[in-house]
Amino acid sequence: MDRLVVVSNRVAAPTDTKATAGGLAVALQDALRQKGGIWFGWSGKTAARTPLEPSITGVGKVEYATLDLSRKDLEEYYNGYANRTLWPLFHYRLDLTGFNKQDYSGYLRVNTMFAHALAPLLEGKDTIWIHDYHLIPLGSELRHQGIERPMGFFLHTPFPTTEILTALPSHATLIEHLCAYDLLGFQTENDLRAFRDYIVHEAGGGLMSENRVHAYGRTLRAEVFPIGIDTADFEKLGQRSARSALAKRLDVTSHGIQRVIGVDRLDYSKGIVERFQAFERFLETRPAYRGKVQLTQIAPPSRAEVPEYKEITRTLEAEAGRVNGRLADFDFVPINYLNQSFKRQDLAVFYRKSRAGLVTPLRDGMNLVAKEYVAAQDPKDPGVLILSRFAGAARELDRGALIVNPFDFESTAEAIAQALEMPQEERIDRHKVMLKVLHDNTLDHWRDRFLTILAEAPFE
Ligand code: F6P
Repeated sequence: MDRLVVVSNRVAAPTDTKATAGGLAVALQDALRQKGGIWFGWSGKTAARTPLEPSITGVGKVEYATLDLSRKDLEEYYNGYANRTLWPLFHYRLDLTGFNKQDYSGYLRVNTMFAHALAPLLEGKDTIWIHDYHLIPLGSELRHQGIERPMGFFLHTPFPTTEILTALPSHATLIEHLCAYDLLGFQTENDLRAFRDYIVHEAGGGLMSENRVHAYGRTLRAEVFPIGIDTADFEKLGQRSARSALAKRLDVTSHGIQRVIGVDRLDYSKGIVERFQAFERFLETRPAYRGKVQLTQIAPPSRAEVPEYKEITRTLEAEAGRVNGRLADFDFVPINYLNQSFKRQDLAVFYRKSRAGLVTPLRDGMNLVAKEYVAAQDPKDPGVLILSRFAGAARELDRGALIVNPFDFESTAEAIAQALEMPQEERIDRHKVMLKVLHDNTLDHWRDRFLTILAEAPFE
């Protein structure tokens, strides 16, 4: 059977289980276990210098091949070009996007080193699946190494419109690199449309039948693959959550106060500042809810070496303090801000115990928290999902969620009130519609569809 080679910036540890790994890691590990293959990427560690060869751990038919990175490589490739240039740009934050030649050459250098380290490990029948914005040039670097095997790339983030993308000085080279793949996967129609628009209007390429595009002398396929979750697993965690010690503690400490929940990596794209302000507006304009509804915001630190993340961390601390200072009482804190991570099973408890899930990113590729919140609910008495129109998930969940514009505090405050006042029957109906979507498009379905189409490459 053909082997699968997965490449991503971070590599799941071979010992990760469902409880400790994210859903994506589990789905990719399952595919690797079935087919055999390699998971290649950064080790998550730094070393005095980036080694030429990866260290390899074998578990059954799967090899985990990882490279440490030197401080300089990490700084320029990950903290620099990936997370100070591409991340903000792809999330429509030109105001936070820094362009810097040194970071760009570090990004290209690390991608080239990855290609040199990976190429000798590849076999004649491998299928290669590369993930996310850190590794856009890797495919063309592998092609330079003579690798002709089917190569797919999935972008987990949004793909920005041409107007935004062309602000990037190296946009033409970056997109030429992207076109070295056989199959490109995007989260939503919007992202695919933006890519196709760039191909036609900037790259001088053409659109062909069956989702094929022709650009830079190659024909490739570009399609929408909205990423899913392990729905059954989150439903199970939700069901079990009632019996957990955490659920009991939450019951004891909540004193009948209803909970609204937000769970996000601490990132400016997630709209957490705006969410705090919308919650403040909700309590301010509806005083009857004061002392009765609390926002629990879980926000584990992320990319802490990047200055913009340091800044958003400070801003959020200040905002939580300001709102609580204004609206707290001796027995009530409006925002319970938890700057830490929780295990999947504990998150399921928080989701199940919350009357509303506030998922209000300013821009997001998909947002799996929205999906996990829905799957963890009690179908007989579900909470309400309040979802930003700028999350990819809104394309699939718009018939069940309350869709809001996160820049409009009033509309979010209004949606919080609507969620808390929604009759049980309507909550059940909305939940049913969303759960069906999550059953129809699971993480396994997403993975299998991508790999099935990739297996048909080349698309010339
Ligand atoms: O697409 C967003 C993403 O890069 C995910 O792949 C990853 O799980 C998440 O952000 C966390 O980011 P980081 O690896 O930078 O901590």
